[in-house]
Amino acid sequence: MVDDSDLDAARRRIASAATLEELRAVENDLLGKKSAIAAMNTRLGELAPEARKERGREINELRSALTGAVAARRAVLEEGDRSAGIAADRIDLTEAVRVPGVGRAARRRGQLHLVTQTRDELEDVFIGMGFTVAEGPEVETDWYNFEALNIPPAHPARSGFDSLYLKLGEPGTVLIRPHTSPVQVRVMEAQRPPIYSIMPGRCYRKDTPDARHTPAFHQIEGLVIDRGITFGDLAGTIEEFTNAYFGPDIHSRLRPASFPFTEPSAEYEVTCVICHGTGCRTCSGTGWIELGGCGMVHPNVFEAVGIDPEEWSGFAFGFGIDRLAQIRHSISDMRVMADNDLRFATQF
Ligand code: DAH
Repeated sequence: MVDDSDLDAARRRIASAATLEELRAVENDLLGKKSAIAAMNTRLGELAPEARKERGREINELRSALTGAVAARRAVLEEGDRSAGIAADRIDLTEAVRVPGVGRAARRRGQLHLVTQTRDELEDVFIGMGFTVAEGPEVETDWYNFEALNIPPAHPARSGFDSLYLKLGEPGTVLIRPHTSPVQVRVMEAQRPPIYSIMPGRCYRKDTPDARHTPAFHQIEGLVIDRGITFGDLAGTIEEFTNAYFGPDIHSRLRPASFPFTEPSAEYEVTCVICHGTGCRTCSGTGWIELGGCGMVHPNVFEAVGIDPEEWSGFAFGFGIDRLAQIRHSISDMRVMADNDLRFATQF
């Protein structure tokens, strides 16, 4: 005979099964072949027909009560197993932030390349001086790259740029730019003076890589156009920028040079950062290192973009960004900049 207290005890056993395995054992005890219910079933045949019917119904009720309790408990345990599985598989993406200083090398963050850092820094310096930043396309036409810059087709300066031409349009008319100077033309076309802009970007030349050259490199171009701008403004801007980027001990000087798009033109040099001016191997004993070109915007360039040279005057300059970084950080060979070697990249 099974009474209510037996049923309650059975339910408590089912409810307290802590794992699916324990539950299977309990289920076997209560409902399996050797269970009390199975025994009751076997003895049914001993009863008279009326009593047997009654007893049969009782056994069925009991069985379905226990089966229901087992199924309910199984559902709970299975859900728990799933949650535990999910919890075990979980990836904590906040870990790097929560555990500072632990396993640092294993989760080292990425960083900007030295050239990008240098470009950002140069932009900051010039923005601080009131300049805006402009950009132009890397694929240029003959007009922007040469003609508007006062370099007509037969001009010897064209060959000096070692330009890379594209098979596009008329042969020899479209190229990947060998300098950022064409962006000056685009800025002057897009905007009336006054103009105070820098134009950073990537350039390409058919150069053989060596310690000071890579075929893909970066320049930063500068252009100032306003009323009454003089060569003194150019020299002052260059010195200001030199001190801001290299520090107060490093100075600039301008030496006469020649560029088709400026007149007069100059080469921009800074105090050698290695010997501080006394002369060493890096500066070939001169105490100075050449960094770029500059000058007063040529009247022919103004004419090409429709700016009146009687009303406006201006200066321009162009330096290599990679070269500036190379000088400041005393990097002996420029080619490491493109080597993709983390031992170099992570030093900055
Ligand atoms: N574009 C020149 C070069 O790549 C550098 C340069 C010289 C830029 C004089 C200028 C400039 O703006 O005025 O060699």
